[in-house]
Amino acid sequence: MKEKIQEEFKKHFGGKGTLYASAGRINLIGEHTDYNGGFVFPGAIDKVIMAEIRPNKTDKVRVYSIDIDDNAEFELNEEDAPKQQWARYIFGICREIIKRGGTVKGFDAVFAGNVPLGAGLSSSAALESCFAFALNDLFNGNTIDKFELARIGQSTEHNYCGVNCGIMDQFASVFGKKGNLMRLDCRSMEFEYFPFNPRGYKLVLVDSVVKHELVDSPYNKRRQSCERVAKRLGVETLRDATKEALDAAKSDISAEDYSRAKFVIEEKERVLDVCDALNRGDYETVGQLMYATHNGLSKDYEVSCEELDFLNDIAKECGVTGSRIMGGGFGGCTINLVADDKYSHFIEEATKRFNEKYGHEPKIYDVVISDGARKITE
Ligand code: GLA
Repeated sequence: MKEKIQEEFKKHFGGKGTLYASAGRINLIGEHTDYNGGFVFPGAIDKVIMAEIRPNKTDKVRVYSIDIDDNAEFELNEEDAPKQQWARYIFGICREIIKRGGTVKGFDAVFAGNVPLGAGLSSSAALESCFAFALNDLFNGNTIDKFELARIGQSTEHNYCGVNCGIMDQFASVFGKKGNLMRLDCRSMEFEYFPFNPRGYKLVLVDSVVKHELVDSPYNKRRQSCERVAKRLGVETLRDATKEALDAAKSDISAEDYSRAKFVIEEKERVLDVCDALNRGDYETVGQLMYATHNGLSKDYEVSCEELDFLNDIAKECGVTGSRIMGGGFGGCTINLVADDKYSHFIEEATKRFNEKYGHEPKIYDVVISDGARKITE
């Protein structure tokens, strides 16, 4: 990928820039908890967006996307937003840095990636974090701290891409560290690295290839449900709500909002239970909690789909330790914790049966927990 980017940069702009990369992410558990002030447990993966960038001494940004084979050119004022969705991510990052008093001047860039699009692995956060990290290095002497870089990515989603997301994806992409998951408390923003090397098990993603599109999606509606219930219960976020308080208010809340809030309240406990189980090396419990999350995401939060429920059923039948839909939902991947001796059988079965039913094979990605945003060359 690096060579291809360098070749295209030379072709489009001549000479060389600096290379940066940032990563997609997985999340072991803690879904739809981030915008509710709860806990998440993500890690960056070895699939990245990489960009070569060089200031061009003008007010113009010129970008070429290798994967989409498309160019965009824009200036840096609010009214200069490009029309292509992919370029709006980069424009948003520039604008959010400028709005915070940082500096961005014109630059030329070429980028490419191997984070599968729409698979729930946060390709958009990888793109945002890559450019936020780079522009901090190139124009701001690295004075913007890492949390702010993550927030710049999140605000880009809110203000330029129409997704009212939480902080998990951008946090994971910026802070990711090889071999470590991170437990983040999204209320206090305190976090802890958690070395993750389950002996005797693998983490594997099974991608349904059902397109996952959060832009203009029911994702924002889920968030609104949670905010309505929090308001009704008199708490800032559902992090501070209890199941008892929710039940006491049940008659004032729509059945749908009730189910959404119930899931979130249960899910925040599951993250802590998974951490305890990991500390004891008790992967069976971790796995059961993953199945419980799937069930909640499917039945209460209603962000699953037929294909993902099917993959979850196959996992159960194959004796997979834990399996669940991962990320925002509405398509994308399941994440599976599989004992080594069950791995081949599970992958064969899932591939064969999914293909029989839906006419195409799912994609399989072994998870390698890797570093997040970084500079690659001078
Ligand atoms: C998407 C959002 C995140 C988070 C997850 C669900 O990935 O971008 O902020 O809410 O969905 O856990």
